This record gives sequence, C-alpha cells and structure tokens, in this order.
Amino acid sequence: MKILVLNGPNLNLLGLREPEIYGARNYAALEAYILNCAAELGCEAQVRQSNHEGVLVDWIQEAYGKFDAIVINPAAYTHTSVAILDALKAVQLPAVEVHLSDVTQREDFRQISYARLACQKTYMGLGFEGYKKALQYLVQGEAESSAPCFSVRV
Ligand code: DQA
Repeated sequence: MKILVLNGPNLNLLGLREPEIYGARNYAALEAYILNCAAELGCEAQVRQSNHEGVLVDWIQEAYGKFDAIVINPAAYTHTSVAILDALKAVQLPAVEVHLSDVTQREDFRQISYARLACQKTYMGLGFEGYKKALQYLVQGEAESSAPCFSVRV
C-alpha cells in the first residue's frame, strides 16, 4: 500500500515553532518517525511538506492513480482551505486528517476543519503518534472506500 503523507505550512519549523504546543522535535524527526512507522506496518509512505496551498492541491491531484491513500495535516489551511477539501473530494482516495495539537482545546478560529469533510478519520492531540495511528488505520483496512465518516471528533 502506498500512502502519501502531506504536511502544511509552518510544520517545517517544528522544534522552533511554539514547542510548548508542537513539541521539541524537528520536522526531520517527524519525517523519520513516519517512515519508520510505515516500514513497521509494511507500507510505503512518501512524506512531503509545503507552505503553499496550491502545491498541496497539486500533490493531492497527482496522488490519483499513484497512491492508495492520503494522510494530511493541512496545518493552518485546515481552517481556511476549500481548495484542499475539493481536491480530496475529487480524487476520492481514503484520507485521514492529523493534527499534532488538540485543536478542540484551542482558539475559536481553529474549530472549523474543511479537510475533515473529506476524511474518514481525525487524530489530534497525540503529537507524532497521530501519524502512526493514521497509517495503522489505513493499513489495517479499516478505511472505507466511499463515504466520509463525520462521526469522529470535531
Ligand atoms: C496544526 C493545528 C493548526 O491549527 C495549526 O495552524 C498548525 C498545526 C497541528 O498539527 O496541531 O499549523 O495542524
């Protein structure tokens, strides 16, 4: 199984960026963690990060026919991007949303997630482990092929 793991803006600054919220480990450590989890699960992961909404949209589009599923932490674009939602809906790949922090405990403007409407599952507030849970969910075949699930934590 081939899984595309996408990370949005400012996640490249992990370690430097608000460590009390996002932790002390840097982005290279996150990438290594995800690749290691994928190897343990026997799947192939490609991990990418961009600060640009259009680049994330391009990568979601390009995943069609090349990847079996998407894990996405859209970062700040979670709360603003209909374009990312539309791209996820267009390619219809099983998708899982991840956030390092528990956004439900944060500012009002973080309470909306557009991407979530096209995701089967959301893991948040678990730090790096959220990515592992997302990969496990997809690999262990719990992923539904069609309708998104809206019953997960909002
Ligand atoms: C985040 C939460 C978002 O609200 C924020 O804009 C981020 C990171 C998280 O992983 O906790 O950049 O997606």
